[in-house]
Amino acid sequence: MNWAPNSWRNFPIKQQPTYKDPTLVKEVESELASYPPLIFAGEARNLKNDLIKAGRGEAFIVQGGDCAESFSAFNADVIKNMFKLILQMSVVMTYSAGKPVVKIGRMAGQFAKPRSSDYEEIDGVKLPSYRGDIINDIGFTEAAREPDPRRMIRAYNQSAATMNLLRAFSRGGLANLNEVHRWNLDFIKGHPLGQRYEQLSFQIDKSMKFLAAAGITSDNAPQLRQTTVYTSHEALLLPYEEALTRVDSITDDWYNTSAHMLWIGDRTRDLDGAHIEYFRGIQNPIGCKVGPSMEVEELLTLIDALNPTNEEGRLNLIVRMGADKIAAHFPPLLRAVRDAGKQVVWTIDPMHGNIAKSSTGFKTRDFDKILSEVEQFFAIHEAEGTIAAGIHLEMTGEDVTECTGSTSSPISEEDLGSRYHTQCDPRLNANQSLELAFMIGEKFQ
Ligand code: PEP
Ligand code: CO
Repeated sequence: MNWAPNSWRNFPIKQQPTYKDPTLVKEVESELASYPPLIFAGEARNLKNDLIKAGRGEAFIVQGGDCAESFSAFNADVIKNMFKLILQMSVVMTYSAGKPVVKIGRMAGQFAKPRSSDYEEIDGVKLPSYRGDIINDIGFTEAAREPDPRRMIRAYNQSAATMNLLRAFSRGGLANLNEVHRWNLDFIKGHPLGQRYEQLSFQIDKSMKFLAAAGITSDNAPQLRQTTVYTSHEALLLPYEEALTRVDSITDDWYNTSAHMLWIGDRTRDLDGAHIEYFRGIQNPIGCKVGPSMEVEELLTLIDALNPTNEEGRLNLIVRMGADKIAAHFPPLLRAVRDAGKQVVWTIDPMHGNIAKSSTGFKTRDFDKILSEVEQFFAIHEAEGTIAAGIHLEMTGEDVTECTGSTSSPISEEDLGSRYHTQCDPRLNANQSLELAFMIGEKFQ
């Protein structure tokens, strides 16, 4: 098909840094190309099979994590709390829906950020925008904002360490269904939501005792003691992604080995652009954001470009319209895709269309809008006879104050300043994420 890992270089590209030292960039790229893969192709194929199930309504996808991972907030607790939160949300939904949850972290590689403006201006000083720790530093100085290619090596190493811990947690006992109580995060425990979770844990304990009495235990049934948390990120910085694109020795196909799943952002999905060119050649399951500016014809062309063989489980369309726009913009797209018989897996990102500025000056999102967009997404699918296959969230297992609202964690605009830690967009905190999981769970009952 006349594609190579570097063929994107012949196409117009958006949202990339301008490095000062091209020789250093080349050196970094060859160094990365010599490093081991972070995932292997067989795992990406397993995820594709899981996405097939989700697309058919036999499983539900929970994809979540930071807007941007950072070099500074890199430690075992942050990873462990995110892992526990993903498991908590999954068990809540599995219990009510009776369906497995496909768990995908925005983790171990979510470092590069598209920006709405190339520059940031504060008090008359204008500097290049922060583009994620893989590119430059968030500090507001000229030196900090200078893109440094060596950051790609650090991002790779951090991703490898994060992946290592995720794999250990998944297999090493923490994911054991006898441990559901332990997934409850410390600061949630005394809270009504934490207590609701505890009640659910007791129900699960009872079921585990019943299974054990019937001879099925975590010793003889591995499904009860281990899980899989897949990794994903926006493949924005293509020199990095190209260096980690490898041929699978079993199938001879090209795979991106920096994560199980990669997605294309809403700002870089131009039909004739470099990102579509890169994505069409890798065999991983891929995602593409679908924002309110997407037209019907454009979407159908994009689907054909990214999934020419109409393979099931290959393409995840991540709708991110905003609570005020989804009702008008999404149904025509959904109907056209359905009527054209295209195989896609629809999920909802209720974060990126619902960004607001608080009166106190913070970039925030209101929980009610997030919830409303999720509810509308479900209702639209129900009306059209199609499948709402999952959610895509910016969230954290930490007790932050970045999104306003929710009953479990009523954060006001005045509260935002107290624990506003995000590197980029505001995330749901653990309470808000769990509340959302309970609400989605109720929809299935
Ligand atoms: C993101 O998911 O972090 C993101 C930037 O989303 P979008 O491309 O939909 O704006
Ligand atoms: Co974001």
